Amino acid sequence: MSVTDEIKSRIDIVSYVQRHVPALKKAGRNHKACCPFHNEKTPSFVVNPERQSWHCFGACSEGGDLFTFAQKIHGWDFKEALRELAAEAGVQLQAQTPQQKSASDRRDALRSLVNSAAEFFHGRLQAGDAASVRRYIHEARGLSDETIRVFQLGYAPESWDWLLNSLRRLGYSDADIVAVGLAVQNENERVYDRFRNRLMIPIRDERGRAVGFGGRALGADESAKYINSPQSALFDKSRLLFGLDMAKRAIRESGTAVVVEGYMDVIQAHQAGYLNVVAQMGTAMTEKQVRLIAPRFASRIVLALDSDDAGQRAARRSLDVARQSLSQDFAGRLSVDLRILQVPDGKDPDDFLRKSPAAWRSLVADAQAVADYVIDTETAALPGNASVQEREAVALGLLPILTATENNLYKQDNIQKLSRRLRFSERDLMALARYKLSLERPVQPQTPEDPPPEYWGDDYDAFPPEASELDEPSTSAAPASGINRGTIRAIEPYCMSLLLKNPNLLYLVNRELRELAGGDDELLRGPLCALGVDDFTQSQYRMLMSYLQDSMAQDDREPLEYLESVVSEDLQPEYEALLVEAPEVVSQSIRRNFQVDLNDIFRRRPFQGGSRYSERDELISRALQLRLARLENERIEMQYLQEEAQTGGDSDQQQSDQLNAKIMLSMRAKARINRAVSRVSLPRQQTSIS
Ligand code: UTP
Ligand code: MN
Repeated sequence: MSVTDEIKSRIDIVSYVQRHVPALKKAGRNHKACCPFHNEKTPSFVVNPERQSWHCFGACSEGGDLFTFAQKIHGWDFKEALRELAAEAGVQLQAQTPQQKSASDRRDALRSLVNSAAEFFHGRLQAGDAASVRRYIHEARGLSDETIRVFQLGYAPESWDWLLNSLRRLGYSDADIVAVGLAVQNENERVYDRFRNRLMIPIRDERGRAVGFGGRALGADESAKYINSPQSALFDKSRLLFGLDMAKRAIRESGTAVVVEGYMDVIQAHQAGYLNVVAQMGTAMTEKQVRLIAPRFASRIVLALDSDDAGQRAARRSLDVARQSLSQDFAGRLSVDLRILQVPDGKDPDDFLRKSPAAWRSLVADAQAVADYVIDTETAALPGNASVQEREAVALGLLPILTATENNLYKQDNIQKLSRRLRFSERDLMALARYKLSLERPVQPQTPEDPPPEYWGDDYDAFPPEASELDEPSTSAAPASGINRGTIRAIEPYCMSLLLKNPNLLYLVNRELRELAGGDDELLRGPLCALGVDDFTQSQYRMLMSYLQDSMAQDDREPLEYLESVVSEDLQPEYEALLVEAPEVVSQSIRRNFQVDLNDIFRRRPFQGGSRYSERDELISRALQLRLARLENERIEMQYLQEEAQTGGDSDQQQSDQLNAKIMLSMRAKARINRAVSRVSLPRQQTSIS
């Protein structure tokens, strides 16, 4: 048994989760609670004791085992989780390699050095000659003794070697003191204290260990208001949020993290009792900083901005970072609620909190949705007679932010607002948005070592089962003839290539789907609807599909001519390749990328036994395969939801019934498609690709 299995066999996931999510209640075979990783009112977080797994069916739509849960809830990386859980389970971990051991010993030694420095500075603040500094802290900054203690504020005296000598006496070497940035070595090898006559603010990592300092100038003549510890093995400003060690509990409990710019803003907020406040320390927020908060602790991030221009610019950059890092996790759906808090009257949060601490609460509560904020600020600069190009440029900049939400109502609302503001139709904006998003959505690398994501299953029956199985929908498992995700990925460019060369073929595919629905309205509107963007999984083909649909919807120009004019620059190479290459070649080049053996598919021709091969039939059968894959994908998602609904009480019964009806409908459609695919005849024995 592996160490992780050993640990899992000793720690029951239900009781472990229960300790951190006290609301976890038994519901059928599972246990259920509101998800600890996002804000919700009805429980969608399920722990399964049989599989020893957990899953959030809500906004996170994510799950895992004991380890992933522990990592997420504590913010541990895997190594930390392994260490902590092994200790809890009483499982002996293999010793570190000597190199690992010495590296971690060294970091421990450096941390204890920084920690000693924090204690020296803090102690020094009580000395007689620090009276004016204490007065500054109390009077000019309005901070209490309690706050000084909690944040371990300190004083670095006006001296070149006070700290050096203090640390040397404890046995630390000059080299180490320089390594953590507390002392500086000049060209003449002279070593001296970096921080002199400054108010010292220890910066801690998430676990509360001091790793660096911010030092505020006390004299008015100082060149830099703040000097910070330089980047080092121990101190990486881009991975730290000031105050997170003290704020994370409140952030989790309130579901909201307020991100301010400066040390003093955090300290003042905590003193006023607002504990969910952290600082990005002056720079624009980095992706690593976002990930320290969301989604593991909070689903709402409120960016509190200074009212100056720099603050606004930093906000815009932070927003971009937040959006990008979050959208990667959620396949383009931003399930984190980003808001902007503008401190009124040109103040920073520190000033504001000192004057009106009680008003902070409503300032946070009323923080503007990021969409409204960016629409306001980005369109403000546009002249009344802005050209189409100017307005389009603004739209392209804003759309990813506005549409990166999983809430369709918000999305619609955002598009509406922007359309009014920019005088574009909502339809045009949506087309732009689809395009922009499709470019950004990362295409998952597919290699044979990568197991396909769960929801694609192994039992995907793209090829016709026996006719007898087809007449009625059945809930039995599909036959094990497999077509895997890599194959589907290769079919997409193949279909797209045919469609682009002859857009009118789309009518034929859709006619086939309509015929399969045979006047059944539910099928027609649901699983047998016209071929669309959602039949493609890869962003470039999704985008091209949406252009193709547009080209068919307009009648000013020939579809091809229209496509030519609208396909954007970024997609142009892809588009041209699809147009000039034979469909097989397109797929073959994809095949090389994904190492899926498609020879089988493309060597043989359908319509065996004398029937004439036609591109048309080939396209129809491939397009139907795409549809089958999509339906299967959707079915598995619905099945998850249904399983979950079944664990609930009566209130979920209705939902379960509805899902069941949908699943049956989808299976009916599948059976019909399978029948059609077998009509265009792909011999079964040749289809076992895996
Ligand atoms: P601010 O200039 O807004 O400082 O910079 P502040 O927090 O209001 O400081 P006070 O109230 O004047 O004392 C915000 C943050 O930017 C970083 C610091 O982290 C600061 O808290 N900063 C600022 C620096 O690192 N260096 C600087 O010289 C200035
Ligand atoms: Mn300030």
